[in-house]
Amino acid sequence: MRHLLDTRTLSLIEALRLLDVSEEMRDTQSREIRKLPTLRGKTVVNLFFEDSTRTRISFEAAAKRLSADVINFAAKGSSISKGESLQDTAQTLQAMGADAVVIRHGASGAPRTLAASGWISAGVVNAGDGTHEHPTQALLDAFTIRKRFFGADSRGHDLAGLQVTIVGDVLHSRVARSNVWLLTTLGADVTLVAPPTLVPQDVSSWPVRIVYDLDEAIDAGPDAIMMLRVQLERMKAAYFPSEREYSRQWGLDAARLARLPADSIVMHPGPMNRGMEISADAADSPRSTVLEQVANGVSVRMAALYLLLAGERETTHEKEDAR
Ligand code: NCD
Repeated sequence: MRHLLDTRTLSLIEALRLLDVSEEMRDTQSREIRKLPTLRGKTVVNLFFEDSTRTRISFEAAAKRLSADVINFAAKGSSISKGESLQDTAQTLQAMGADAVVIRHGASGAPRTLAASGWISAGVVNAGDGTHEHPTQALLDAFTIRKRFFGADSRGHDLAGLQVTIVGDVLHSRVARSNVWLLTTLGADVTLVAPPTLVPQDVSSWPVRIVYDLDEAIDAGPDAIMMLRVQLERMKAAYFPSEREYSRQWGLDAARLARLPADSIVMHPGPMNRGMEISADAADSPRSTVLEQVANGVSVRMAALYLLLAGERETTHEKEDAR
Protein backbone atom coordinates (compact mmCIF):
# COMPACT_ATOMS: atom_id res chain seq x y z
CA MET A 1 0.00 0.00 0.00
CA ARG A 2 1.48 3.33 -1.04
CA HIS A 3 -1.05 5.75 0.55
CA LEU A 4 -4.31 5.49 2.51
CA LEU A 5 -6.48 8.28 1.11
CA ASP A 6 -10.03 6.96 1.23
CA THR A 7 -12.16 3.86 1.69
CA ARG A 8 -14.11 4.38 -1.51
CA THR A 9 -11.33 2.90 -3.61
CA LEU A 10 -10.32 0.24 -1.08
CA SER A 11 -10.96 -3.29 -2.36
CA LEU A 12 -12.44 -6.01 -0.15
CA ILE A 13 -9.06 -7.74 -0.07
CA GLU A 14 -7.25 -4.55 0.99
CA ALA A 15 -9.88 -3.80 3.62
CA LEU A 16 -9.68 -7.29 5.11
CA ARG A 17 -5.89 -7.13 5.08
CA LEU A 18 -5.97 -3.84 7.02
CA LEU A 19 -8.43 -5.30 9.53
CA ASP A 20 -6.48 -8.54 9.93
CA VAL A 21 -3.18 -6.71 10.46
CA SER A 22 -5.01 -4.49 12.98
CA GLU A 23 -5.93 -7.69 14.79
CA GLU A 24 -2.26 -8.69 14.94
CA MET A 25 -1.39 -5.25 16.25
CA ARG A 26 -4.11 -5.46 18.86
CA ASP A 27 -2.70 -8.76 20.10
CA THR A 28 0.67 -7.11 20.67
CA GLN A 29 -1.01 -4.39 22.74
CA SER A 30 -1.98 -6.80 25.50
CA ARG A 31 1.64 -7.87 26.02
CA GLU A 32 3.72 -6.51 28.86
CA ILE A 33 5.99 -4.63 26.49
CA ARG A 34 3.80 -3.01 23.89
CA LYS A 35 6.50 -1.41 21.81
CA LEU A 36 7.56 -3.13 18.59
CA PRO A 37 10.83 -2.32 16.75
CA THR A 38 9.13 -2.51 13.34
CA LEU A 39 9.45 1.13 12.22
CA ARG A 40 12.71 2.01 13.92
CA GLY A 41 14.46 4.75 11.98
CA LYS A 42 11.30 5.88 10.19
CA THR A 43 9.82 9.32 10.64
CA VAL A 44 6.08 9.89 10.79
CA VAL A 45 4.84 13.47 10.58
CA ASN A 46 1.42 14.41 11.92
CA LEU A 47 0.39 17.38 9.81
CA PHE A 48 -2.80 18.78 11.28
CA PHE A 49 -4.40 21.84 9.69
CA GLU A 50 -7.60 21.29 11.69
CA ASP A 51 -8.22 20.81 15.39
CA SER A 52 -8.06 17.27 16.63
CA THR A 53 -7.36 15.57 19.92
CA ARG A 54 -8.09 11.90 19.67
CA THR A 55 -7.08 11.30 16.07
CA ARG A 56 -3.72 13.04 16.44
CA ILE A 57 -2.93 11.36 19.75
CA SER A 58 -4.01 8.02 18.33
CA PHE A 59 -1.67 8.32 15.33
CA GLU A 60 1.10 9.46 17.64
CA ALA A 61 0.61 6.47 19.96
CA ALA A 62 0.45 4.11 16.96
CA ALA A 63 3.67 5.43 15.44
CA LYS A 64 5.50 5.37 18.78
CA ARG A 65 4.42 1.82 19.56
CA LEU A 66 6.04 0.82 16.28
CA SER A 67 9.22 2.72 17.33
CA ALA A 68 8.96 5.40 14.62
CA ASP A 69 10.05 8.96 15.35
CA VAL A 70 7.07 11.31 15.44
CA ILE A 71 6.95 14.98 14.54
CA ASN A 72 3.76 16.86 15.32
CA PHE A 73 3.13 19.77 13.03
CA ALA A 74 0.04 21.79 13.95
CA ALA A 75 -0.39 24.05 10.97
CA LYS A 76 -3.68 25.61 11.91
CA GLY A 77 -4.27 29.31 11.49
CA SER A 78 -1.93 29.95 8.59
CA SER A 79 -2.75 33.14 6.74
CA ILE A 80 -1.34 32.07 3.39
CA SER A 81 -3.74 30.47 0.94
CA LYS A 82 -4.22 26.74 1.52
CA GLY A 83 -2.60 25.51 -1.69
CA GLU A 84 0.54 27.55 -1.18
CA SER A 85 0.96 26.64 2.44
CA LEU A 86 0.42 22.95 1.71
CA GLN A 87 3.15 22.95 -0.92
CA ASP A 88 5.60 24.88 1.24
CA THR A 89 4.96 22.71 4.24
CA ALA A 90 5.20 19.51 2.22
CA GLN A 91 8.52 20.50 0.73
CA THR A 92 9.84 21.31 4.19
CA LEU A 93 8.79 17.88 5.43
CA GLN A 94 10.41 16.24 2.42
CA ALA A 95 13.65 18.03 3.21
CA MET A 96 13.42 16.73 6.78
CA GLY A 97 13.10 13.15 5.54
CA ALA A 98 9.51 12.27 6.41
CA ASP A 99 8.63 8.67 5.55
CA ALA A 100 4.89 9.04 6.21
CA VAL A 101 2.70 12.11 6.46
CA VAL A 102 -0.56 11.85 8.35
CA ILE A 103 -2.62 14.80 7.21
CA ARG A 104 -5.83 16.37 8.46
CA HIS A 105 -7.06 19.28 6.41
CA GLY A 106 -10.21 21.37 6.13
CA ALA A 107 -10.25 21.06 2.36
CA SER A 108 -11.70 17.89 0.85
CA GLY A 109 -9.06 16.30 -1.39
CA ALA A 110 -6.00 17.86 0.27
CA PRO A 111 -4.42 14.46 1.09
CA ARG A 112 -4.82 13.32 -2.52
CA THR A 113 -3.32 16.57 -3.77
CA LEU A 114 -0.36 15.98 -1.47
CA ALA A 115 0.05 12.35 -2.54
CA ALA A 116 -0.15 13.20 -6.24
CA SER A 117 1.88 16.39 -6.06
CA GLY A 118 5.40 15.12 -6.34
CA TRP A 119 6.28 17.49 -3.46
CA ILE A 120 7.01 14.52 -1.22
CA SER A 121 7.97 10.88 -1.58
CA ALA A 122 6.39 9.92 1.76
CA GLY A 123 3.32 7.74 2.11
CA VAL A 124 0.23 9.82 2.83
CA VAL A 125 -2.49 8.89 5.31
CA ASN A 126 -5.72 10.86 5.27
CA ALA A 127 -6.69 11.66 8.87
CA GLY A 128 -9.82 13.55 7.80
CA ASP A 129 -10.23 15.96 4.88
CA GLY A 130 -13.09 18.44 4.94
CA THR A 131 -16.37 16.62 4.50
CA HIS A 132 -14.77 14.00 2.23
CA GLU A 133 -13.28 11.00 4.06
CA HIS A 134 -11.70 9.76 7.27
CA PRO A 135 -10.58 6.23 6.33
CA THR A 136 -8.89 5.17 9.58
CA GLN A 137 -12.02 6.12 11.53
CA ALA A 138 -14.13 3.85 9.32
CA LEU A 139 -11.56 1.07 9.63
CA LEU A 140 -11.62 1.30 13.41
CA ASP A 141 -15.41 1.33 13.34
CA ALA A 142 -15.51 -1.77 11.12
CA PHE A 143 -12.91 -3.41 13.34
CA THR A 144 -14.99 -2.67 16.45
CA ILE A 145 -18.15 -4.08 14.84
CA ARG A 146 -16.31 -7.19 13.66
CA LYS A 147 -14.81 -7.76 17.10
CA ARG A 148 -18.15 -7.42 18.89
CA PHE A 149 -19.99 -9.73 16.53
CA PHE A 150 -17.36 -12.31 15.67
CA GLY A 151 -15.47 -12.44 18.94
CA ALA A 152 -11.86 -13.14 19.81
CA ASP A 153 -10.67 -14.32 16.45
CA SER A 154 -12.58 -12.46 13.84
CA ARG A 155 -9.74 -12.62 11.31
CA GLY A 156 -10.88 -13.04 7.74
CA HIS A 157 -14.50 -12.14 8.51
CA ASP A 158 -16.40 -9.61 6.44
CA LEU A 159 -19.58 -7.94 7.76
CA ALA A 160 -22.13 -9.67 5.54
CA GLY A 161 -25.54 -9.94 7.15
CA LEU A 162 -25.02 -7.10 9.61
CA GLN A 163 -27.24 -4.03 9.60
CA VAL A 164 -25.54 -0.74 10.44
CA THR A 165 -27.53 2.46 10.90
CA ILE A 166 -25.72 5.80 10.78
CA VAL A 167 -27.63 8.70 12.31
CA GLY A 168 -27.35 12.46 12.21
CA ASP A 169 -25.30 15.10 10.46
CA VAL A 170 -24.43 13.04 7.38
CA LEU A 171 -24.03 16.18 5.28
CA HIS A 172 -20.90 17.36 7.10
CA SER A 173 -19.57 13.95 8.06
CA ARG A 174 -16.46 12.43 6.52
CA VAL A 175 -16.90 9.64 9.07
CA ALA A 176 -20.28 8.76 7.54
CA ARG A 177 -18.88 8.80 4.00
CA SER A 178 -15.89 6.61 4.82
CA ASN A 179 -18.15 4.21 6.69
CA VAL A 180 -20.66 3.98 3.86
CA TRP A 181 -17.96 2.86 1.41
CA LEU A 182 -16.07 0.57 3.74
CA LEU A 183 -19.02 -1.11 5.44
CA THR A 184 -20.77 -1.81 2.15
CA THR A 185 -17.53 -3.17 0.64
CA LEU A 186 -17.41 -5.50 3.65
CA GLY A 187 -20.95 -6.63 2.88
CA ALA A 188 -22.91 -4.81 5.60
CA ASP A 189 -26.32 -3.34 5.00
CA VAL A 190 -26.16 0.42 5.66
CA THR A 191 -29.06 2.75 6.49
CA LEU A 192 -28.66 6.50 6.94
CA VAL A 193 -31.02 8.47 9.16
CA ALA A 194 -30.95 12.26 9.07
CA PRO A 195 -33.11 15.35 8.95
CA PRO A 196 -33.79 16.07 5.25
CA THR A 197 -31.65 19.21 5.53
CA LEU A 198 -28.61 17.16 6.55
CA VAL A 199 -28.75 14.61 3.72
CA PRO A 200 -26.10 15.25 1.01
CA GLN A 201 -27.36 15.89 -2.52
CA ASP A 202 -25.39 13.09 -4.16
CA VAL A 203 -26.74 10.46 -1.78
CA SER A 204 -28.88 8.82 -4.46
CA SER A 205 -25.75 7.25 -5.91
CA TRP A 206 -24.65 5.79 -2.56
CA PRO A 207 -25.27 2.11 -1.80
CA VAL A 208 -27.51 2.88 1.19
CA ARG A 209 -31.10 3.23 2.31
CA ILE A 210 -32.23 6.66 3.59
CA VAL A 211 -34.77 7.01 6.37
CA TYR A 212 -35.90 10.30 7.90
CA ASP A 213 -37.52 8.88 11.01
CA LEU A 214 -35.20 7.56 13.72
CA ASP A 215 -37.94 5.55 15.42
CA GLU A 216 -38.66 3.71 12.20
CA ALA A 217 -34.94 2.92 11.84
CA ILE A 218 -34.72 1.71 15.43
CA ASP A 219 -37.71 -0.57 14.97
CA ALA A 220 -35.93 -2.17 12.00
CA GLY A 221 -33.55 -3.65 14.62
CA PRO A 222 -30.04 -2.62 13.55
CA ASP A 223 -27.00 -4.55 14.84
CA ALA A 224 -25.03 -1.34 15.22
CA ILE A 225 -26.23 2.23 15.46
CA MET A 226 -23.65 4.96 14.90
CA MET A 227 -24.50 8.42 16.19
CA LEU A 228 -22.73 11.28 14.39
CA ARG A 229 -21.69 14.50 16.05
CA VAL A 230 -23.73 17.50 14.96
CA GLN A 231 -20.93 19.56 13.41
CA LEU A 232 -22.04 23.03 14.40
CA GLU A 233 -18.66 24.48 13.38
CA ARG A 234 -19.31 23.51 9.75
CA MET A 235 -22.85 24.92 9.69
CA LYS A 236 -23.18 28.33 8.15
CA ALA A 237 -26.96 28.20 8.10
CA ALA A 238 -29.77 26.82 10.24
CA TYR A 239 -30.31 23.15 9.43
CA PHE A 240 -32.80 22.40 12.22
CA PRO A 241 -35.06 24.51 14.48
CA SER A 242 -33.18 24.11 17.77
CA GLU A 243 -30.81 21.78 19.61
CA ARG A 244 -33.71 20.63 21.72
CA GLU A 245 -35.77 19.77 18.69
CA TYR A 246 -32.80 17.96 17.12
CA SER A 247 -32.29 15.76 20.16
CA ARG A 248 -36.03 15.06 20.40
CA GLN A 249 -36.19 13.84 16.79
CA TRP A 250 -32.72 12.48 16.03
CA GLY A 251 -31.07 11.93 19.40
CA LEU A 252 -30.49 8.52 20.96
CA ASP A 253 -32.12 8.78 24.38
CA ALA A 254 -32.90 6.18 27.05
CA ALA A 255 -36.29 5.26 25.56
CA ARG A 256 -34.86 4.63 22.08
CA LEU A 257 -31.88 2.79 23.55
CA ALA A 258 -34.29 0.42 25.31
CA ARG A 259 -36.01 -0.38 22.00
CA LEU A 260 -32.83 -1.46 20.24
CA PRO A 261 -32.13 -5.20 19.96
CA ALA A 262 -30.50 -6.58 23.12
CA ASP A 263 -27.20 -7.47 21.43
CA SER A 264 -26.91 -4.30 19.36
CA ILE A 265 -24.07 -1.84 19.85
CA VAL A 266 -24.05 1.95 20.11
CA MET A 267 -21.18 3.76 18.42
CA HIS A 268 -19.92 7.35 18.25
CA PRO A 269 -16.67 8.59 16.68
CA GLY A 270 -16.23 11.31 19.30
CA PRO A 271 -16.17 13.98 20.41
CA MET A 272 -19.74 13.56 21.67
CA ASN A 273 -22.29 16.31 22.22
CA ARG A 274 -23.87 14.64 25.22
CA GLY A 275 -27.52 15.52 25.46
CA MET A 276 -27.76 16.36 21.78
CA GLU A 277 -27.20 13.44 19.41
CA ILE A 278 -26.58 11.01 22.27
CA SER A 279 -27.83 10.96 25.86
CA ALA A 280 -25.61 10.06 28.80
CA ASP A 281 -27.63 6.84 29.25
CA ALA A 282 -26.73 5.73 25.74
CA ALA A 283 -23.12 6.96 25.81
CA ASP A 284 -22.36 5.20 29.09
CA SER A 285 -24.42 2.05 28.57
CA PRO A 286 -22.71 -1.36 28.34
CA ARG A 287 -23.75 -1.39 24.68
CA SER A 288 -21.70 1.67 23.95
CA THR A 289 -18.43 0.92 22.15
CA VAL A 290 -17.13 4.49 22.34
CA LEU A 291 -14.02 3.65 24.36
CA GLU A 292 -13.41 0.39 22.49
CA GLN A 293 -13.42 2.46 19.31
CA VAL A 294 -10.72 4.70 20.76
CA ALA A 295 -8.59 1.73 21.87
CA ASN A 296 -9.04 -0.06 18.55
CA GLY A 297 -8.08 3.12 16.75
CA VAL A 298 -4.49 2.75 17.89
CA SER A 299 -4.27 -0.83 16.54
CA VAL A 300 -5.84 0.17 13.23
CA ARG A 301 -3.43 3.10 12.79
CA MET A 302 -0.50 0.85 13.66
CA ALA A 303 -1.68 -1.46 10.89
CA ALA A 304 -2.00 1.39 8.40
CA LEU A 305 1.47 2.76 9.19
CA TYR A 306 2.93 -0.73 9.09
CA LEU A 307 1.43 -1.52 5.69
CA LEU A 308 2.56 1.83 4.32
CA LEU A 309 6.09 1.80 5.68
CA ALA A 310 7.10 -1.80 6.17
CA GLY A 311 4.52 -4.21 4.77
CA GLU A 312 4.93 -3.79 1.08
CA ARG A 313 8.26 -2.09 0.87
CA GLU A 314 9.66 -4.80 -1.37
CA THR A 315 6.89 -4.38 -3.90
CA THR A 316 7.56 -0.65 -4.00
CA HIS A 317 11.25 -1.25 -4.58
CA GLU A 318 10.53 -3.76 -7.30
CA LYS A 319 8.38 -1.20 -9.04
CA GLU A 320 11.08 1.42 -8.73
CA ASP A 321 13.69 -0.99 -10.10
CA ALA A 322 11.47 -1.81 -13.06
CA ARG A 323 11.23 1.83 -14.07
C1 NCD B 1 -14.47 12.97 13.62
C2 NCD B 1 -13.85 13.91 12.62
O1 NCD B 1 -13.00 14.71 12.97
O2 NCD B 1 -14.23 13.82 11.47
N1 NCD B 1 -13.82 12.86 14.83
C3 NCD B 1 -12.71 12.13 14.99
O3 NCD B 1 -11.96 11.87 14.09
N2 NCD B 1 -12.46 11.68 16.23
C4 NCD B 1 -15.90 13.21 13.79
C5 NCD B 1 -16.32 14.52 14.37
O4 NCD B 1 -15.54 15.46 14.50
O5 NCD B 1 -17.51 14.62 14.65
